[in-house]
Order: sequence, then structure tokens, then C-alpha cells
Amino acid sequence: MRRFAGQVALITGGARGIGFGIARRLSAEGAALALLDVAGERLARRGRELARRDATVLTLPVNVTDREAVEEAVGRVAERFGRIDVLITAAGINGRTDARTHEVLPADFDRVLDVNLRGMFLCIRAVLPVMLAANYGRIVNIASISGKVGNLRMLPYSTSKAAVIGMTKVIGKEYAATGITCNAIAPALVRTPATEQAHGEAGLRELTAAIPMRRPGEIEEIAAVVAFAASREASFTTGFVFDASGGRAVY
Ligand SMILES: NC(=O)c1ccc[n+]([C@@H]2O[C@H](COP(=O)([O-])OP(=O)(O)OC[C@H]3O[C@@H](n4cnc5c(N)ncnc54)[C@H](O)[C@@H]3O)[C@@H](O)[C@H]2O)c1
Repeated sequence: MRRFAGQVALITGGARGIGFGIARRLSAEGAALALLDVAGERLARRGRELARRDATVLTLPVNVTDREAVEEAVGRVAERFGRIDVLITAAGINGRTDARTHEVLPADFDRVLDVNLRGMFLCIRAVLPVMLAANYGRIVNIASISGKVGNLRMLPYSTSKAAVIGMTKVIGKEYAATGITCNAIAPALVRTPATEQAHGEAGLRELTAAIPMRRPGEIEEIAAVVAFAASREASFTTGFVFDASGGRAVY
């Protein structure tokens, strides 16, 4: 399938994990990529790796919490490609995963909300005018099943992801009469560098046990759902949360 031929996809958190997996998938289906990530060196390596496989890639070493840098980066993408058809907001952090609510440090709470929620908002806010001018756009926010069910000892993270779902619904409604859709994906556990660092083997076992399919998701499985939500085909769905949770989601 070449669902993204002639299209441009801006992917935040594109240097690793789920974001990079989505980049590979969209590029394989014909998209030109703009990859944004705070990890500049890894991002440059990943950009070169994709370019060797004939992808068109622009790399943007940017922190999503930096409003000016985000706006400048979006401006560069629009200038270079003349369009942004797809925005995937995958940049995110876990924060601490060992603290119950009374032990959560307010600074950790602020940091997680700043990246996962405010950073996502800043990226969407900067890209919307480009999509509005084209009367077309697909925004796909990477939420999490924790935003629906609440993961123990992950108050800041689960709170941020629940808020991402709320934000997705508002944006979906506000732009429903344009050609722009905004949906979210709620994955359950996927083994990535972030989850391996954050949870350790015992935590990963606990999270896996909560999944009826009794296994973590694969990055490629998340990318497949995202690719559909980001495609022209997904034209009558907005403000929706797609689950990729091995049966963990019950609503
Ligand atoms: N892996 C899972 O089990 C899982 C499940 C549900 C949701 N998610 C979500 O998927 C997304 C990707 O997660 P992952 O597991 O691939 O993590 P990851 O750490 O492997 O990748 C996240 C990327 O985001 C980048 N990033 C972090 N903070 C940033 C910032 N301030 N500005 C720009 N880039 C920044 C990192 O450098 C990294 O490259 C996150 O939003 C995460 O919450 C992951």
C-alpha cells in the first residue's frame, strides 16, 4: 500500500520506539518525513538510516516544550515541503513509576504534564494553521491505555494521557467540518527502550498480565493502527480513541 504517496508526515518523538516505528511505516507507504525529537544525535542517526532506504527525511532536534522552537520547526517543514498532511504526536515520557500519589514529587508531575500534554498541544497548535490552509489534515495523538484505566504508581503519566484523550475530543469536534481529523491511539504495554527502563522485569510482567492477549504489543502493531487513522481512508472518524491494547480496553 502507498497510502501516503505525495504526503508529508511530521512525527514527534521520531528518534526511537513507537515514533520511529511509525516513521518507518509511513515512509514505507510513501510519506516524506519530518522527524522531531529532543535527542538530537540519535535523531540524526535515524534520519540517515531512513535516507539510506530512500526515504525523504528532514530531522528537527527540538524539545516539544519549547514553544518558539516548535513554531520555528513547523515553519521549516512547511517551507521545505509546502504542506503537512499528517501530524503524529508520539513524544512522551513516563516519569517515575514507583510512587503512589502521596509520594509523587510535584516537579515530576510538572515535567510529565509539560512534555506529554503541553508539548503535544504546542505541536498541534503550530501545525493546525498549515492544515487549515489546505483544508486537509490527519492528527494522531499517542495516548495510552493508562489514560483510560489509570496505571498504578503512574499518576502524572496516567493523568497526562487522560488529558490527551480529552484534548483529542475537543480538537476532533472543533475542526470536524474541515478536512482535518484528530484521533488518538491508546496502546497497552509495548516493549520499547522507555518501558524497559521505566518498569523493570517485574513491572513489565505486571503490565503484561493485565493484557487479555497475555503479551505486550509490537511497535509494528501500533504503527499499523496509526497508519490507518492517519490515512485519507479514515475520513469519517474524529475525536475517537483507537485501542491497541490486546483486549485490555473495555470502553
Ligand atoms: N511503550 C509503551 O508501552 C507505550 C504505551 C502507551 C503509550 N505510549 C506512548 O507512546 C509514545 C512513545 O513511547 P515509547 O515507548 O516509544 O518511548 P521512547 O522513549 O522509546 O520514545 C519517545 C521519544 O520521545 C522523545 N522525547 C521525549 N521527550 C521529548 C521532548 N520534550 N521533546 C521532543 N522529544 C521528546 C524521546 O527522545 C524519544 O525519542 C509516548 O507518548 C508514550 O507515552 C507508549
